[in-house]
Amino acid sequence: MKRLFAVLLLSLTILTACGPAAEAEETPVLLDQPELEELEGSPEPKAPKEPVYLNSDLPAEERAEDLLSRMTLEEKVGQMTLIEKSSITPDGVEEYFIGGVLSGGGGTPSPNTTEAWAEMVDSYQEGALATRLGIPIIYGVDAVHGHNNLKGAVIFPHNIGLGATGDLDLVYRIGAATAEEMAATNIYWNYAPAIPVVQDIRWGRTYESYGEVTGLVTQLGKAYLEGLQGDDLSDPLTALGTPKHYIGDGATIWGSSMTGSYQLDQGVMTATEEEIREKYLLPYQAAIDAGALSVMVSFSSWQDTKMHAHKCLVTDVLKGELGFEGFVVSDWGGLDQVNGNYYRAVVESINAGIDMNMVPYSATKFINAMLEAVENGDISEERVDDAVYRILLAKFKLGLFERPYSDPALFDLVGSEKNRQLAREAVAKSAVLLTNENAALPISKDSSLIFLAGEGADDIGMQCGGWTISWQGSKGAITPGTTIKDAFEGAFEGKLQYNRFGKYDNILDENGNPAVADVGIVVVAENPYAEGVGDSRDLTLPQNDLEMIERVKERSQKLVVIVMSGRPLVITEALDLADAWVAVWLPGTEGDGVADVIFGDAPFVGKTPFTWPASMDQLPLGSYDTEPLFPFGYGLEN
Ligand code: GLC
Repeated sequence: MKRLFAVLLLSLTILTACGPAAEAEETPVLLDQPELEELEGSPEPKAPKEPVYLNSDLPAEERAEDLLSRMTLEEKVGQMTLIEKSSITPDGVEEYFIGGVLSGGGGTPSPNTTEAWAEMVDSYQEGALATRLGIPIIYGVDAVHGHNNLKGAVIFPHNIGLGATGDLDLVYRIGAATAEEMAATNIYWNYAPAIPVVQDIRWGRTYESYGEVTGLVTQLGKAYLEGLQGDDLSDPLTALGTPKHYIGDGATIWGSSMTGSYQLDQGVMTATEEEIREKYLLPYQAAIDAGALSVMVSFSSWQDTKMHAHKCLVTDVLKGELGFEGFVVSDWGGLDQVNGNYYRAVVESINAGIDMNMVPYSATKFINAMLEAVENGDISEERVDDAVYRILLAKFKLGLFERPYSDPALFDLVGSEKNRQLAREAVAKSAVLLTNENAALPISKDSSLIFLAGEGADDIGMQCGGWTISWQGSKGAITPGTTIKDAFEGAFEGKLQYNRFGKYDNILDENGNPAVADVGIVVVAENPYAEGVGDSRDLTLPQNDLEMIERVKERSQKLVVIVMSGRPLVITEALDLADAWVAVWLPGTEGDGVADVIFGDAPFVGKTPFTWPASMDQLPLGSYDTEPLFPFGYGLEN
């Protein structure tokens, strides 16, 4: 009898703690009658069953409901807080029940190694798992062209190059490869793919887009997301994607931005609702149908309202009409732009449908505003529960509760030869042959002398562009890779003379006269930039590039110009100076892909994903009636 009583006490304790009114108690489970009877005869009382939310055999929906029912308001608001890793410690993650931590562009550990990344993410995870309910954080990065903050990761062509390939299978494989290299660092949330349908290539984020046509962007964005997320998000080699930036981020009007010196980025979209639905909404519908569980809102505005506070588009359309069941994350401090009064900004944005706020610096400022707003009834508990449920649902589907820490066995996935070959394939397929007179291309490997010129020909930082190791990217040997010059030297057995400025005064022929190359190759390139920093009122080829082209032309029988840029440049004035022009966009670390098409080891198949303007007067797209230099989809083949 004594034993039974003890058992009953145990069960009563459990019953009290688990009562329907109980909230946020340390509670195992309710033992119902059959289990009690079973206990009567057993020698020892059974340990209480694990809480529903910790049972990985149960559906994510059930687990999320159960966990939500156990949480305090502070724990819920903590889950809605996404903070930059330099602005929180692991102890802070524990203290404030933080739901997400991110590395902004360049938010790297020191040293910038796979092991150090994994250790950094694990340390924040330890803080999260030390909380009462042990809810793991979700750690996010912008792995927009490979795991691009991590030194040694394979840097794939930026999306503009992938748009030029039009190759769904290739882009799927790149998504999968990116998830692999992220997984090695225990990071399972990628702020990609960007799916703007860009209408003005003066925008500094043009290269983050697949192109100017809705269909292309829709298909490639979906393919990337499917590759990144795989068939099962709980697979340790897949990651959660974040189609961004909802909505119309690439449709703003020049000069409408209120952010610093920006002109287009974070500006105003003037499209009609019909245009929005026809041009910019379809990529999101496709992404949601493909399983997107996180969407990032845009800094842009529409109808005098910041997208971060646009309840109609975020809640009624995205969550309502499109049926989005995941969570909406703000952009970097995006809430702050909604209203000069931070409390009002929080109220308007969260009520508009933002579920997780990328604060990104002060967790307590946001948390306190949230608690006050719920206290005041300005934000309902239902809205908070909806946001937290969406966040927990993604975390359960990702398997974060079962796999919170890094796996050293995955470290070698970073920079793998397999992924480098995939990137090389993408570089070759992204190259667009614009002109090819006198059969200049491909260049014969039997040529005796080739002149190579241009700073971008031997600079991995310029070859990768923005969002590489640092937010803006930078020139120089910023990460291991193969420059165009390295690649040409590897592919061509003849004599290759490189000079950054295209000056070969000391290169003489056997008669002591200035040598003339069989082929001169000039690489003209943009300097790295990201976001509104890259907004540019003039995309015309700079004068010094024009002069370099003319210099090399004088010393070459044939001349090839390679354009390495984040968007089409205005090259009309120089076009006739060269026999051939090739656009390689921002290829990333695998310059061998450029050599493959230049020397004929791979065919030219790329098609420009943007209309190539003949002059600056032809921007933005569709605002002119003159012929562009090359139309959307143009590209010679050989
Ligand atoms: C940036 C970008 C966004 C990125 C986020 C986190 O400002 O707008 O694309 O995902 O901040 O780095």
